[in-house]
Amino acid sequence: MKLTTRVTSMLNVKYPIIQAGMAGSTTPELVATVSNAGGLGTIGAGYFSSDRLEQEITYVQELTDLPYAVNLFVPSDKLYVPEQVEHMNAWLKPYRRAFNIEEPVINITEKQQFEDAIELIIEKGVPAVSFTFGIPEQTVIEKLKARHIKLIGTATSVEEAIAIESAGMDVVVAQGSEAGGHRGAFSETASQLTPLVGTMSLVPQIADQINIPVVAAGGIMDGRGLVASMVLGAEGVQMGTAFLTSDESGASQLYKNAISQSKETDTVVTNVFTGKPARGIDNEFIHKMNEYDDNIPDYPIQNQLTNALRKEAAKTGNAQWTHLWSGQSPRLIQHLSAWTLIENIVKQANEILNG
Ligand SMILES: Cc1cc2nc3c(=O)[nH]c(=O)nc-3n(C[C@H](O)[C@H](O)[C@H](O)COP(=O)(O)O)c2cc1C
Repeated sequence: MKLTTRVTSMLNVKYPIIQAGMAGSTTPELVATVSNAGGLGTIGAGYFSSDRLEQEITYVQELTDLPYAVNLFVPSDKLYVPEQVEHMNAWLKPYRRAFNIEEPVINITEKQQFEDAIELIIEKGVPAVSFTFGIPEQTVIEKLKARHIKLIGTATSVEEAIAIESAGMDVVVAQGSEAGGHRGAFSETASQLTPLVGTMSLVPQIADQINIPVVAAGGIMDGRGLVASMVLGAEGVQMGTAFLTSDESGASQLYKNAISQSKETDTVVTNVFTGKPARGIDNEFIHKMNEYDDNIPDYPIQNQLTNALRKEAAKTGNAQWTHLWSGQSPRLIQHLSAWTLIENIVKQANEILNG
């Protein structure tokens, strides 16, 4: 078995290692370091305005000549239900008061932001785009493909992977339930809080059903995880938590400390922070919200309703009231440069492969 695969040739990278585009936590330095080390760095652009995205792409282009990607959230068509928002606002009121936070004005600009990002990606000649939360419209896919931009979709079930392949994308990330952060699920069944299909089950079942290459994600932290994924039929890995705790990541010290002090049993999948299921370290916010007696508003509404509260908590060093996305392998994190992390993964994988 070799570390050169269809993924490395398609994405034009040395190693089959993708740094996940973690919205809110990537920096141009992280993205460029990963790309310069031979992997594929990814700008986590899910929450970015076009101005911010333009700045980040320009900065990454100054730091590397090698391929990188931009990660985007596919906009949802979920409806704003005023009564649901009023009810949630009433529930959050005492907590907002405690943190001295005003009630936010909900402003859903997802679709426009997504369209602007696509135009910018074309204009700036970004080599690859990865998507989560669904499949973009066919016109968008065709527009990007016409520019030879490589397209990476995220699937949490075989059904979703088949849909991504049928839409004409180039690579599927099989995101197992160990994964930190939001689940990319978009089909009716897989979008629920359960079932949660683990990486070991998901990767070979997807690999058996589609022809485009599969990249494994969820709980992978080192060379063992890379080789294991490849044995299961993956042609690369996408890693989030391992890069989140690297020197170049944008995660705060509070956040990094919470992950280093956590165990494999400390995370839960919850929709209380943003309205979409995501895996993070269990804390007081989740416990309090679990007492909420109504449906949680959908993403992006709940995300906006809780955003200022979480930001203020994080700013004041309160890890109990902010989201702490993390995968299930926190004992395997290392505090080092993303460059050394990649070097170590490749070295360990080669040692295993060459006996
Ligand atoms: C802090 C954090 C933020 C994330 N944000 C995104 C995101 O914006 N877009 C995305 O496609 N995946 C996101 N993910 C999920 C990753 O793409 C990937 O599936 C996951 O990190 C793999 O599991 P691991 O964390 O155990 O490596 C995020 C993961 C983490 C840990």
